[in-house]
Amino acid sequence: MEAPELLRVWVLAAVALGGSLATLPDHHVLPDHHVSTETGAIFVHELERELFQEAFLAGREDDSAAAPITFQAHLRDHPDLPRWLRYIQRNPHQPGYLYGCPTAAEVGTHAIEVLAYNRGTYETVAQRLVVTVVPAPGKGFTGSPPYQGEFLVGNRDVEELLPAEARETFVEAAAGVWERDDVRVINVTSALDRGGRVPLPIEGLKEGVYVKVGSGGPFSACLASAASPRSRFHCGLGQQPLASCYDTFAPRFAVRWCNLTLLQVWPTPVATGPAWGSGVLEEGGDFQPPTEAPPRDLLPGYLVTLLVPLAVAVLLCLLLGHLMCCRREGVQKRDLETSDIQLVHHTTIHGDTEELRHMATSRDVPRPLSTLPMFNVRTGQRANPMPASPDGARVPLLPP
Ligand SMILES: *[C@@H]1O[C@H](CO)[C@@H](O)[C@H](O)[C@H]1NC(C)=O
Ligand SMILES: *[C@@H]1O[C@H](CO)[C@@H](O)[C@H](O)[C@H]1NC(C)=O
Repeated sequence: MEAPELLRVWVLAAVALGGSLATLPDHHVLPDHHVSTETGAIFVHELERELFQEAFLAGREDDSAAAPITFQAHLRDHPDLPRWLRYIQRNPHQPGYLYGCPTAAEVGTHAIEVLAYNRGTYETVAQRLVVTVVPAPGKGFTGSPPYQGEFLVGNRDVEELLPAEARETFVEAAAGVWERDDVRVINVTSALDRGGRVPLPIEGLKEGVYVKVGSGGPFSACLASAASPRSRFHCGLGQQPLASCYDTFAPRFAVRWCNLTLLQVWPTPVATGPAWGSGVLEEGGDFQPPTEAPPRDLLPGYLVTLLVPLAVAVLLCLLLGHLMCCRREGVQKRDLETSDIQLVHHTTIHGDTEELRHMATSRDVPRPLSTLPMFNVRTGQRANPMPASPDGARVPLLPP
């Protein structure tokens, strides 16, 4: 194919593609959903199928059986989710979950665009999820509890531990082992993300979930002994670790005690962000305008600015006028000061000059040749100023 022809094909294809994109129908948009969460704790948002199901069925009579729905979520103006947020949906007949643990670096507002596809009709519904991450109370620190333990739950998939009730149950069980009541879930991670293997498709086999919980108080003796080097040794031999306490997780959660990790996080001071000045409003606060400024008297300033230069200008004018009009030395004064002989002398010269001038204008003889130009100044042409008379007679220099 010739190069220009190839180019034309490309252009046509591009135009066709652009046209088809432009004719894509706008999708139904649900109102924005606002949620807020704290740093250092798990954030879970369930993408409820029912909500989107209603939007799909709106304006249609047949409320047929639940349609398969899948979701797609991304940070607004970005192709993917923010790093701290993950998405999971087991299959199109189950809800989707957005979950993650924001850290101090994620404080702020994150606008997530969620697009739901009806796999039956290929309709789409969009919703914007606005997540506001606020710093956990406990100023100056990352907000994560100082004592953290990570449990591997073998008989669950990750989305089974995301609903609030499941987390509640887990926290209760963990509080029993830890012997503290301020235990909370920090993070939930699928074991597949930590090198676990996809289980065989056998009923009851699950991927496994790592659940990280934290507390402000130290670990109980039971937890400490389960994570001790001796217990590790037993684990290496394929035995259960030595823990003398009652497993409050059983039978709902099959905790793999050999995979228990305990860690102590020293609170690290957060890099101090910009300090808010007094001009920044509290969240939800109303702006209180400052009390009205007292009226200031601007007249003296105005007068000074205007009148002082004016007065100076008037003074200068008067001075100049006086010098010009009253101090002027006239001809009379000059004549009085000049000696008489000088005046006579001057008048004589003056008179003589006048007389000579008068005499010059009344001369009626031709001007002497020597006073006439011998050549044209402009053209430089030399010419006899007096046209030669045909009889060869010459004009005398002086009249006879
Ligand atoms: C939560 O778990 C994920 C996956 O293991 C990890 O990438 C993330 O850093 C964890 N977040 C926190 C705050 O520990
Ligand atoms: C649990 O720990 C054992 C060793 O203690 C390790 O071999 C295994 O891979 C861990 N399981 C998971 C799912 O990480």
